[in-house]
Amino acid sequence: VIVGGTKGVGRELAALWAGQGQTVTAVGRQAGQAPEGVNVVTGDAERPEELLRSLRDVILERGPLCSLVFLQRYRGSEDTWSGELNVSLTATRVVLEGLAEEFAPDGDRSVALVGSNAGRFVTTDQGPGYHVAKAALAQLGRYYAVKLGPLGIRVNVVSPCAFVKQESAAYYEGRDDLTAMYEAITPLGRMGTAAEVARVVALMCGPGMSFVTGQELYVDGGLSLVQQDGLARKLATRHD
Ligand SMILES: NC(=O)c1ccc[n+]([C@@H]2O[C@H](COP(=O)([O-])OP(=O)(O)OC[C@H]3O[C@@H](n4cnc5c(N)ncnc54)[C@H](OP(=O)(O)O)[C@@H]3O)[C@@H](O)[C@H]2O)c1
Repeated sequence: VIVGGTKGVGRELAALWAGQGQTVTAVGRQAGQAPEGVNVVTGDAERPEELLRSLRDVILERGPLCSLVFLQRYRGSEDTWSGELNVSLTATRVVLEGLAEEFAPDGDRSVALVGSNAGRFVTTDQGPGYHVAKAALAQLGRYYAVKLGPLGIRVNVVSPCAFVKQESAAYYEGRDDLTAMYEAITPLGRMGTAAEVARVVALMCGPGMSFVTGQELYVDGGLSLVQQDGLARKLATRHD
């Protein structure tokens, strides 16, 4: 089950898992265009109890859970503080606790929470609610790793920096200045993609990570390693 699986990274992950023959359910407020073989359930994380009931019905119909992924973030227009906290944190807690007993009795069982480098660093692109929600999501991941460990459920956090997704590709394609700047500041010399983030989430949920829980993995091409004043000197020299 992928909450927030109808767009961006979530849709890439849904397509990846469906392509591997897994039984995939993606959740979004609108059905959108689901990848082939993906079951879409409409539900709103702002009404998490209702969403939980729908997901319990899905599990009854399609079988127990192996992986549960949370990618939803607040995309509304009202108070972003309470919106971010409700959609990122309250919904994750309600759905995760409500489905903890619905995992398969054996095999690899895992949860992935998708955070952001804004959980640790500060970006002027996003408000305080986003920052606080993403920081708290990482701690929520550690909390549930300990709490659900005895049930054999692993919980990890994947925190990307800005990446290119299908919905934003046209924007970046038209902005050579911006992509050149990303190339200059990122150790791997380019922006990442939604598909690359999805692959890391799949890896975190997969059996290869069977003894890894409570960890946060940054998917940022090394961006968070670079000291800012060194970067300023590098870019200033480039423009001399
Ligand atoms: N995009 C980036 O560059 C970037 C950078 C760092 C971190 N992240 C994080 O990575 C994750 C995925 O980002 P993305 O850009 O791929 O996401 P996205 O394109 O905005 O997709 C979000 C998904 O969540 C669903 N969703 C949103 N609000 C919902 C709600 N109230 N209830 C249920 N579903 C809801 C959306 O479907 P509907 O709209 O139909 O509801 C969609 O499926 C997010 O947590 C984001 O904070 C993204």
